Amino acid sequence: MGLRILGWGSALPEKVVTNHDLQKTLDTSDEWIVERSGIRERRIGDSTAALAIEAGRAALSKSNVDPASVDVMVLATTTPDQAVPACSAHVHHELGLGGGAFDLNAACSGFVYALVMANGLLETGANRVLVVGAETLSRITDWDDRNTAVLFGDGGGALMLEREAGEGQLLGWDLGLDASAREILQCDLGGFVQMDGREVFKRAVRVLVDSAKRTLAQAKVRSEDVKLLVPHQANIRIIQAACDRLGIPEENTAIVLHKTGNTSSASIPLALVDAIDAGRLEEGDLVLMTGFGAGMTWGSALLRWQSPPEAQGASA
Ligand code: UT7
Repeated sequence: MGLRILGWGSALPEKVVTNHDLQKTLDTSDEWIVERSGIRERRIGDSTAALAIEAGRAALSKSNVDPASVDVMVLATTTPDQAVPACSAHVHHELGLGGGAFDLNAACSGFVYALVMANGLLETGANRVLVVGAETLSRITDWDDRNTAVLFGDGGGALMLEREAGEGQLLGWDLGLDASAREILQCDLGGFVQMDGREVFKRAVRVLVDSAKRTLAQAKVRSEDVKLLVPHQANIRIIQAACDRLGIPEENTAIVLHKTGNTSSASIPLALVDAIDAGRLEEGDLVLMTGFGAGMTWGSALLRWQSPPEAQGASA
């Protein structure tokens, strides 16, 4: 048994904050932010639950799946709206989902972790799993700290998955954690994100490349056969360095960070959904997702793209 993607969706708050807006209150400039990170603007606002609900609703509607027939929802987030109950409880209620739901925190690798969890659930008996990544990093960002304020944004993305007989679309994966580096990127409860940017940068390139390579080797796929790389959207220079080392041309990557900033768990699904909606994927294309984040966690997943079955009718 494996997974089949039935639908997808994404959500961004309405409020746009440009680099020019930030340079009014911070000792920074549009030139510096664009050159060092590739980010031009980000979206700010809403709650994590609201973004997860919007993205999840879009994925359910696209796949024409009855929400009550969902067995499990996995919500990847580092910014739940409350400590208790889990953010997924609100989302479950508002979407009218059946089955269970839980939050998963693996920082910016969260969506890949959630996808791999979902695959395991489908292999062991679940029929439908909704996977969501949603964040409101703006709530844990110190807007007076130029080291972090220029980088983060809010958003959400979702995939509706169904069990499929056979191998399914997930061909390989790699999850990991080097907790000796857990202090280089952290946020206390009620506090703001603190980060050693240079150290994160250095490690990020290394773990992205190693994790991507392990995933490709596991699936016996060469990097030149990857049609689309969907990396965590943190910094364009990290993505360029990883592409270079993997031998994947930069034009084969899905990029949204110039308009979203770094949205942690939401960044990979936002970039994937953007690429799908732009018609960049054809039947059989290989899609490699790879992310890294606080912990330091990393995660990669290789998918074979399959167009979802046309209007299946709401299935119970
Ligand atoms: O999801 C995972 C989360 N995080 C990441 O992936 C972040 C990884 N790191 C990065 O993306 C980069 O390290 C940053 C974008 C955060 C910083 O870029 P950098 O090229 O590593 O810059 P730097 O930290 O080496 O700083 C260079 C200079 C410093 O000034 P001096 O010491 O050369 O005088 C900084 O004080 O730039 C200064 N600086 C800024 N200047 C203008 C730092 N932040 C800013 C800023 N505007 N916002």
